[in-house]
Amino acid sequence: MKKILLIALSSMTMLSAQVQENVEVPYIPYEIKMGKGFDTVQANCLMCHSFGYIINQGPQSRDFWAKKVDKMIVHFKAPITKEDAKTVTNYLFEQYGNGKEK
Ligand code: HEC
Repeated sequence: MKKILLIALSSMTMLSAQVQENVEVPYIPYEIKMGKGFDTVQANCLMCHSFGYIINQGPQSRDFWAKKVDKMIVHFKAPITKEDAKTVTNYLFEQYGNGKEK
């Protein structure tokens, strides 16, 4: 009887030990790179979605970024002027580019 009680007790302490374990939620900050034109990106690109959409693409060519900005304007009706589109494309290519034009 004593043995059973001991086993029951020890298994209970094991259970509570599991519950008391600290649960750490990783903090993953978006890596937003400041640079020339960032304010234009902030004003034109973050009204509909987060910066994650941009970062998730990985390093890409200038052509890729130009087409993405174009897609936002044509398909999603983003109100971006031609000049701002250029600034944003330059920023994206400088900060998140792969060094290739195409
Ligand atoms: C009018 C709203 C709007 C604006 C402004 C906007 N986007 Fe988007 N964007 C969207 C939508 C809608 C999607 C697609 C969401 C989905 O598929 O779930 C998207 C998706 C994306 C993606 C993911 C890849 C893809 O092809 O779908 C990227 C990259 C992106 N946007 C970049 C930009 C950039 C850069 C700007 C600024 C020039 C911008 N967006 C401005 C609406 C917008």
